[in-house]
Amino acid sequence: MSLVKIKTRINGKAIESEVEPRKLLVHFLREDLGLTGTHVGCDTSNCGACTVLINGRAVKSCTMLAVQADGNEITTIEGISRNGELHPLQKAFLEKHGLQCGYCTPGMLLTSLWLLKKNRNPSEEEIRKNLSGNLCRCTGYQSIVESIKYGAQLMKEKEEEQEMPVR
Ligand code: FES
Ligand code: FES
Repeated sequence: MSLVKIKTRINGKAIESEVEPRKLLVHFLREDLGLTGTHVGCDTSNCGACTVLINGRAVKSCTMLAVQADGNEITTIEGISRNGELHPLQKAFLEKHGLQCGYCTPGMLLTSLWLLKKNRNPSEEEIRKNLSGNLCRCTGYQSIVESIKYGAQLMKEKEEEQEMPVR
């Protein structure tokens, strides 16, 4: 099968690749780029474990072809920490026990970052609604919701400290 050239920016780095036209974005990230923090839970767009940010917006990467990512900016879970320091939302998940096995966690974090980018102070209802496409088999969701509330607070504190938005 002939390969197609694509140019993307992934976690801040310009990437040029050749991909099969039928390859899903999630498989491109995991197999071609080794970004295995993006998980595959179902392959049928139900679980949200494969969620990444495309131009800042949460997208299930099993629902998209790699060629459709051409010209776009992608953030995976590997790209949210800064200089070896966890993102405030990651810290919040750790502190508030927002994960158990961790399989759903990259998707939960990226979906929530999308929400927090649009709304720095979401209500519990808005948080739960935003998570409706992300499944967790372990936590019962309550600790995830608590983590996101606490993460919003930590992001605000960090912004005040740095006087610039936390991404
Ligand atoms: S692997 Fe993409 S939604 Fe489950
Ligand atoms: S922490 Fe195990 S699936 Fe969510």
